[in-house]
Amino acid sequence: MQTGMTRGDPAKRSMLLTALYIAQEQYGYLTQEAVERVASRLGLAVADVYSMASFYSLYRTEAMGRYVLQVCEGLSCHLVGGADRLVDYLGKKLGIKPGETTKDGLFTLEMVQCLASCGTSPAMRVNDALYENLTVEKVDEILETLRGYHV
Ligand code: FES
Repeated sequence: MQTGMTRGDPAKRSMLLTALYIAQEQYGYLTQEAVERVASRLGLAVADVYSMASFYSLYRTEAMGRYVLQVCEGLSCHLVGGADRLVDYLGKKLGIKPGETTKDGLFTLEMVQCLASCGTSPAMRVNDALYENLTVEKVDEILETLRGYHV
């Protein structure tokens, strides 16, 4: 993805991606203030920064749960019966649909395309961690572990 200001300038593009990552770590998501600050520091238009942020699924421009559960619905995961089964299971277990966040603010459920783990599908990413060869039992373990950090 190249916007007008970063086209042909890989160094600036790299700085932008890094700055967005750091801002998201700091704020939890890319707030308006964070985007404006990054744009100002790098001398870019706010619209260009938003354009870049919206292109990559790594970046979030809305408040999310503490843990973002990204279930892969790519072809390999779909073919092993993972995507639908896992999303249905997570949805029932957490009481949310894809795109929603639990009331306690802990979990957001999302569907994403290939997580580059097709050989070990079905796969799910939780924030920066990738989980492979998933079963509902493994999903239960993951949720239990994550909840355990917040009791
Ligand atoms: S299709 Fe799910 S990891 Fe590639």
